[in-house]
Amino acid sequence: MTSLAWERRFETALTPAELEEITALLQRAFPGHPGGIRRGWSGERPELRLLGRDRGRLVAHIGILRRFIRVRATDAAVLAADVGLVCVDPEQQRGGLGRALMERAAAEFVALGVEFGTLTTGEDRVGFYQAVGWVRAATPVLHAIDLDNAVEGFTGPLMYRAVSGAPWPEGELERNGREI
Ligand SMILES: CC(C)(COP(=O)(O)OP(=O)(O)OC[C@H]1O[C@@H](n2cnc3c(N)ncnc32)[C@H](O)[C@@H]1OP(=O)(O)O)[C@@H](O)C(=O)NCCC(=O)NCCS
Repeated sequence: MTSLAWERRFETALTPAELEEITALLQRAFPGHPGGIRRGWSGERPELRLLGRDRGRLVAHIGILRRFIRVRATDAAVLAADVGLVCVDPEQQRGGLGRALMERAAAEFVALGVEFGTLTTGEDRVGFYQAVGWVRAATPVLHAIDLDNAVEGFTGPLMYRAVSGAPWPEGELERNGREI
């Protein structure tokens, strides 16, 4: 497997050239993204990104945004690193880079001091996340904001990765924002 060089870039530190590279990779990896790929993002802009480079070429990317996931019935909240725009260059998929990316992200969650990693995805991607150590939540509904800025009750796959040992919250949850 190719071994990548990793960069950790907060959003305000990205250069225009890096945003161009990220946009090009996302457009290759997400040709049918429902929100469309704009300059390096689709829904919420991340707080930071992990960039994996193979001999200088950007081939792996994840966006991370710390936010609270709130239990609707009790107002209890957990701090999560919500992730999105997870991708590997189509020419290098199924070669272990996605696993390396998610391992790097898990180490980053510890550095960020969050209790969980979280993400929403489609049914066809659940197997990948389970293979790299994520768990599908039994959450009945995740109240969120959709890509058109309307309130949505998301009932698709919500996945989490435990970081701190805290129990995953039960019941209807709130992510008062859009997916990354
Ligand atoms: C999803 C994605 C990041 C996976 O990256 P990858 O480099 O192909 O993944 P890896 O080769 O490291 O695979 C890791 C494990 O996941 C499994 N896996 C990979 N893609 C899978 C899929 N679509 N369904 C089920 N399992 C999958 C692999 O078999 C492997 O398991 P194993 O190690 O037990 O054999 C990549 O396919 C991609 O960029 N897809 C397009 C963008 C996308 O859909 N991103 C997810 C958005 S939610």
